[in-house]
Amino acid sequence: MTSTLAPLLTSRWGNPDSWTLEGYRAAGGYQALAQALTMDPATVLNAVKDSGLRGRGGAGFPTGVKWSFLPASDGGPRYLVVNADESEPGTCKDIPLMLADPHSLIEGMIITSYAIGCHHAFIYLRGEVVHVYRRLLAAVREARAAGLIGDSVLGSGFPLELTVHAGAGAYICGEETALLDSLEGRRGQPRLKPPFPAEAGLYARPTVVNNVESIASVPWIVARGADWWKSMGTEKSTGVAIYSLSGHVARPGQYEAPLGITMRQLIDLAGGIRAGHELKFWMPGGSSTPMFTPAQLDVPLDYDAVAAAGSMLGTRALQVFDETVCVVRAVSRWMEFYAHESCGKCTPCREGTFWLRAVLRRIEAGAGKEEDMQILEDIPKSIVGRAFCPLGDGAPASLTSSLKFFRAEYVEHIVSGRCPFDHAASYLFEAVAA
Ligand SMILES: Cc1cc2nc3c(=O)[nH]c(=O)nc-3n(C[C@H](O)[C@H](O)[C@H](O)COP(=O)(O)O)c2cc1C
Ligand code: SF4
Repeated sequence: MTSTLAPLLTSRWGNPDSWTLEGYRAAGGYQALAQALTMDPATVLNAVKDSGLRGRGGAGFPTGVKWSFLPASDGGPRYLVVNADESEPGTCKDIPLMLADPHSLIEGMIITSYAIGCHHAFIYLRGEVVHVYRRLLAAVREARAAGLIGDSVLGSGFPLELTVHAGAGAYICGEETALLDSLEGRRGQPRLKPPFPAEAGLYARPTVVNNVESIASVPWIVARGADWWKSMGTEKSTGVAIYSLSGHVARPGQYEAPLGITMRQLIDLAGGIRAGHELKFWMPGGSSTPMFTPAQLDVPLDYDAVAAAGSMLGTRALQVFDETVCVVRAVSRWMEFYAHESCGKCTPCREGTFWLRAVLRRIEAGAGKEEDMQILEDIPKSIVGRAFCPLGDGAPASLTSSLKFFRAEYVEHIVSGRCPFDHAASYLFEAVAA
């Protein structure tokens, strides 16, 4: 069974001193950097391109292809920005990676900077995780003292500065252009695209924005080669990835496996659904992706197969819910999140999430009206495809898919005037009464 797992990025997490430079080096760390510095930058970039690595931040865009979109050098600065905002409900892989193995991210950043000709790289971290912020700062200090960052990386003549920036904790600041605005000191709101960051990103200069896990995969590809990476996973979703299982499984946690593993296999690895219960629904890629039911347990968890089955692989945030969970309640909680996190820049998302939250609250509290079912169908149509950024598009995904699979449960709340699971919290009654 465990042969299904392929721990690479997670392989050092259990080491007692995994986060120190000494511990990282003892486990083979920074050897890929030494190797990369003997190569031509274009060769490093091509290795990542040839590996087929796809971005692990949600959209799955090919990483090497993104790097190659940078225009030819004009002698001015160009930047690498690592997106470590990780705020999607259910997504919880980058924070443990940075906590347990910060040097793997730093090594990936130095190699990437070398490949793209960047001399100042940034990590944009969500501000609430102070312990991770401190650990990253300590790791950068260690790397600088060891000559891995600074005027001449490992004496190669290649200069690199690395800044760790803590954001103020807003989900929208994970959207790459809102992140760049926030990093520049502005209110984090998405920018109109084009221009894309590769052309005009941080300080209007060419910029690559990549997820933590994407960049931490780079040293493995440089050290072992593109063909080795491609030998894992599926044809169009190569390599390994971290799957985060949370919710009603016996052993929730991070499971690193080749892309294309199925949810059935992952649930088995996680000890099954908690004893005495059965699976009701699950989220394949975080709360912004349409939900699945037991019928999709054998869908290969790669980008294309999950899309063909009607959802998105997203960040592989696999949230598992058993039969004790009221789907109206779960969707209602997610809508609270989106209404709160909508940045307010565009009307469809700002107003749509506000009203969806209001209607879901009253249905959950047993005060739903017959016409609410139609409202729940209609409002998402005014948001999806009309919002300024993907937050709006993703916000109603759990609702719309739940109506497809569990419509009767919503109707039951309305007809009986109560939650059949007796979950409705008193604050909801108060909110409705007010
Ligand atoms: C609302 C919203 C939040 C996002 N949050 C994150 C995040 O926390 N981390 C991340 O890497 N990408 C996030 N993304 C995706 C980024 O915009 C971007 O696609 C990603 O950082 C690119 O990196 P990758 O190519 O390595 O996946 C978010 C997108 C949206 C619309
Ligand atoms: S879709 Fe939502 S989060 Fe995105 S710009 Fe519009 S209001 Fe802001």
